[in-house]
Amino acid sequence: MRIDLSGQRALVTGGSNGIGRAAVEALRACGAEVFSADLEANPPVDVTNPESLQAAFERAGPVDVVVANAGGAVFAPLDETTVPDWEKLLALNLGGVFHTLRCAAAQMKPRRNGSIVITASTNSYDGEPGLSAYNATKAGILGLLHTAAGELGPYGIRVNAVCPGLIRTRLTEDQFQQPVHLKEYFRHIPLGRGGQPEEVAHAIAFLASPLASFITGATLLIDGGQMASKFGTWNEEKAEFVIDHWTMK
Ligand SMILES: NC(=O)c1ccc[n+]([C@@H]2O[C@H](COP(=O)([O-])OP(=O)(O)OC[C@H]3O[C@@H](n4cnc5c(N)ncnc54)[C@H](O)[C@@H]3O)[C@@H](O)[C@H]2O)c1
Repeated sequence: MRIDLSGQRALVTGGSNGIGRAAVEALRACGAEVFSADLEANPPVDVTNPESLQAAFERAGPVDVVVANAGGAVFAPLDETTVPDWEKLLALNLGGVFHTLRCAAAQMKPRRNGSIVITASTNSYDGEPGLSAYNATKAGILGLLHTAAGELGPYGIRVNAVCPGLIRTRLTEDQFQQPVHLKEYFRHIPLGRGGQPEEVAHAIAFLASPLASFITGATLLIDGGQMASKFGTWNEEKAEFVIDHWTMK
């Protein structure tokens, strides 16, 4: 059994870096023809701009798989989050997914077939301090997920979300440069470490594929067990933190 997407066309937003780029590579490895819609692609595509996104969907042609992944973050305490930053992040993380779902649905509904995967987050559930705007957008995405799954299921279109924990990309590189921070952060992660973009991309490829044919409206945590382990897993009695991960002594 393998993930087979041969003959399928896929569009990935935010496909030039990080999780999106890994998703592009994973879907290609499964045989799909993949288009990246990204501000840093050629031509650039802005998911906050419906016309720009619509043009990208037209260039890609009728798509079978769509990954709504483009996103960003604003790091600031609630009362220091500026109104422009709040509005910008809503437009990107929530508006971008909304516009992507609209374009995807318009192409997929007449064909009675399609699979959409959204990049949500563990922050869809958790109120991580300093990320009020981010957390609000990622929680909001679940509302879009559930509605889209309900409305599009009758047309043979599945909609699912991945919820990554801390994954090493340029978005999080600052955190990966702080061993003391990582040590505390990863104390609560049963697998004792952060994730790599490929580890999210593999789940995206699975959810996008016919192997997930009876899965829709679902969220898949890809977090090393973080959300299952509120009370902490690792301590110095039995384990040590080496460079960027916890390991048993
Ligand atoms: N890295 C993590 O720990 C983590 C955890 C959970 C969820 N996520 C989510 O994963 C997604 C990808 O993040 P990443 O960590 O790979 O970050 P990244 O910065 O490496 O990649 C984000 C990509 O989105 C593109 N992008 C930004 N604004 C855009 C716009 N307006 N239009 C089109 N493209 C745009 C960027 O050019 C970039 O290529 C985001 O939705 C993020 O919230 C990341």
